[in-house]
Amino acid sequence: MDRRDFLKSTAVVAAAASGAGELLKAAERTQGVLPEEGTGNLIASPPMLQNYAETSIGVTFAVNALANGYVLIGEKPDLSDARKVLCGGYRLADIDERVIQVRVTGLQPATRYYYRIGADRIHYGHGYDMKVLGTEEDPRIHSFVTAGKKLSQSSFCVINDTHRCWESMDPILDKVAALAPSCVVWNGDASNSEETLERQVSIFLDQPIRRKDYAADIPYLFCPGNHDSRGRANRHLEKVWMYRQPEERNVRDWDLGRNFAIRMGDIALIGLDTAEDKLDTNPIFAGLFKSEEYRRAQTAWLKDALQQKEIASAPFLVAFCHIPLFDSDPTHNPGDVYPADYDPQYTEDYAYWQRTCGRMWGPLLHDAGCQVVITAHMHHYRYDAPEKGRCWGQVVGGGPHMKPEDYPTVIEGTVKGNKLHITVHNILTGKVQDAFEFKRR
Ligand SMILES: [Fe+2]
Ligand SMILES: [Fe+2]
Repeated sequence: MDRRDFLKSTAVVAAAASGAGELLKAAERTQGVLPEEGTGNLIASPPMLQNYAETSIGVTFAVNALANGYVLIGEKPDLSDARKVLCGGYRLADIDERVIQVRVTGLQPATRYYYRIGADRIHYGHGYDMKVLGTEEDPRIHSFVTAGKKLSQSSFCVINDTHRCWESMDPILDKVAALAPSCVVWNGDASNSEETLERQVSIFLDQPIRRKDYAADIPYLFCPGNHDSRGRANRHLEKVWMYRQPEERNVRDWDLGRNFAIRMGDIALIGLDTAEDKLDTNPIFAGLFKSEEYRRAQTAWLKDALQQKEIASAPFLVAFCHIPLFDSDPTHNPGDVYPADYDPQYTEDYAYWQRTCGRMWGPLLHDAGCQVVITAHMHHYRYDAPEKGRCWGQVVGGGPHMKPEDYPTVIEGTVKGNKLHITVHNILTGKVQDAFEFKRR
């Protein structure tokens, strides 16, 4: 800065500190230029596309002050046909100081949409004292393609057990960006134990990484891991990762907000939540967890999901859940040792795999001809090939660290010709760790 610029900027600072500066600010506030509450930009993160589906999408982003957010969405790249969708559900548009969640419904399957996010900065005094102080729109236009049977080309990627290890996130997301999948399944343990909304925002919306817009053009699905239920804030993870739309599930399944059964080209994707790796009766949980009935509810949902026309008719069926549904090692704790997970025959007092879920869901997936179940949790990549009585193979994704013992993986699934190809990318070495192909069911 040369001396003249320095004097100019010093004069601006001096004026701002004076009464004249305050008058100027007050005038700008009434014109909606300056915020009345909060500072800096109102929109505090790129959008994250959540709950990939055929006819709906969730758009979540962070803000820095009380706001009513929205999405402008249409099929034309310049948004000339865009409609405005406000955050919140029926009756009221939402206002929030930190996280805006917009449910966009009524979309066409297998269709490309373009969108942009915006937010109104809201002054809220009381029920009759509300006003818009200014509007901010992110100039960037993003796009995505909805799921659907008619997609001619489709693929998925799976990431897992990221556990806030930021040094791994950039190379993981670089690989995902290079593969440019139709969607990404985040297969649990994104968290450690999260006590605050700020920590949740830093995991999903405003990560300290290079690719902050990692989920703005690639839709995500989420299968929570055991750590994603831990910590006071994670008891309401839906504040940063919204539930699927109520109209997308029946009344019985009202609380199954993230389970998914989606048709994507020739692949049907099924998302399940294995819940905690400890029993509800374990004293460490103080009676505050209800994994058992949650798993039972998902069993009823899964039975119906597998019979949906678009799911039953898919040539390939792939299921996702965090904790493995199978383990051949008899020393590995199966997660059903009453009352407190301890038994000397097992090496650890938490679940290496989920025998309860395996018994409930495994046969259903077998009967449906599921080719592969993609799991996580062990922080160590492995593959369990199909065997007699279990037609599905099991891929267990890698760990959170750029180290040989628990290197991260990106698991890619795509259909080429008549086969489903699963490719396991080793993020530490940058090489393909393993590859499998499966025939149509
Ligand atoms: Fe983990
Ligand atoms: Fe886990």
